[in-house]
Amino acid sequence: MSKKIASARISETSSQLLQELNNSLPFDKLLYREDIEGSRAHAFMLSEQGIISKEDYEKIEQGLVEIYEEIERGEYLLDGDDEDIHMAIEGRLTDKIGDAGKRLHTARSRNDQVALDFRLYVQKNTMVIADLLLKNIETFIKVAHQNIDTLLPGMTHLQHAQPINFAYHMMAYASMFKRDYERFVSSYERNNYSPIGCAALAGTPHPINRKTTAERLGFKEPTLNCLDTVSDRDFALEILFNISTMMMHISRLSEELIIWSSSEFGFVQLSDKHATGSSIMPQKKNPDIPELLRGKTGRVNGNLIALLTVMKGLTLAYNKDMQEDKEGVFDSVKTALLSLQVLREMIDEMKIREDKMGEACMIGHLSATDLADYLVKEVGIPFRDAYHITGNVVNVAEDKGLDISELTLDDLQSVDERIGEGVVALLDNRASMNARQSEGGTSSVRTLEQMERLTQWVESQR
Ligand code: ARG
Repeated sequence: MSKKIASARISETSSQLLQELNNSLPFDKLLYREDIEGSRAHAFMLSEQGIISKEDYEKIEQGLVEIYEEIERGEYLLDGDDEDIHMAIEGRLTDKIGDAGKRLHTARSRNDQVALDFRLYVQKNTMVIADLLLKNIETFIKVAHQNIDTLLPGMTHLQHAQPINFAYHMMAYASMFKRDYERFVSSYERNNYSPIGCAALAGTPHPINRKTTAERLGFKEPTLNCLDTVSDRDFALEILFNISTMMMHISRLSEELIIWSSSEFGFVQLSDKHATGSSIMPQKKNPDIPELLRGKTGRVNGNLIALLTVMKGLTLAYNKDMQEDKEGVFDSVKTALLSLQVLREMIDEMKIREDKMGEACMIGHLSATDLADYLVKEVGIPFRDAYHITGNVVNVAEDKGLDISELTLDDLQSVDERIGEGVVALLDNRASMNARQSEGGTSSVRTLEQMERLTQWVESQR
């Protein structure tokens, strides 16, 4: 059967061009599993409702299973000139089983069919991504366990600020990934409604049962309104947004890894697997993998904006513009899956240079705030005055070429006699880190608490 869309009014050349513009099979063939799954459920429902005969149903079921196997085995390549995956599979079915195949499209349209296939794809991948996020969180927790006492300079404005521990830094990313996970799961729940049976836009006069198909396909229930359903791509926009936000987090981490692996910092060494050499400079080791993760964030953001733009002017219900919904989603999903797997490996295998991080903690008077806090808490000096006294102490340290944590009691008292004996110990960077014991703070005890809470949460999601 010819699937060309040519008409007597257009020339062969333009008809080929038209097909190239119109046909989605070259990319929507990726949905063959969902298309066959959806058709099997639809045919089952049609036969349950007495809309098609049992014999026809059995032929359809058998035919669809065979087509599925042919595709899986690589015997049926889906490279014909069919307009899309729906026409290709229906055509193949009819070639195989004759008239029964022509009954499959009763009480449905490609509009609800594509809405179903695409939603099944999005739902499935939403949960695959969510699972990979959980695995990444576990890896962050694992690295955190190994680094609960590893000091590094916490920064604001990329300037040394206060000493924190590396586990705490890892837990910051784990917390972002937890939110990402929750975002995917909540999108899954919100969109877990079945589009099939909406037909072109208005429902159908056939006595269908949408609950049967919804249940068979794993949806909570059928969608409420058919006009909305066939024009809705919010589920696709949600996965795109969720991926963009997640990749933005991955990109920020990548940026830190790139900076940390530079010779100026040297805080981490990426495994050789995650770095490459230069073609001309033999000494180089470049952080290509985090650079690529950072770079890929650009394309997923583009995919989100592209679909938002496609959808913004569309009248109800289906418009062919909506065929533009798929490639961006396929691309973002592929990018997300790959990125999460690579990231996990990279974090797991990177070498943490505790020595370098420790050296960096001696730059920038990281424990200065602790002196001010001491003057407020123990001496009763108003914070603003304490702040200025501390500034003067920092000047003394600078004059001596020392870090504030290296000053003696005499040095400190030369600025203000009220500074007591215990202060020298307080200004030690580790003591400073451990002093931050407020909830959610960086002290080892509080960091461990965060790790425990998150571990329990991960277990509750399994
Ligand atoms: N290939 C189309 C798409 O991806 C399927 C739906 C076609 N429906 C229509 N009324 N032309 O959107």
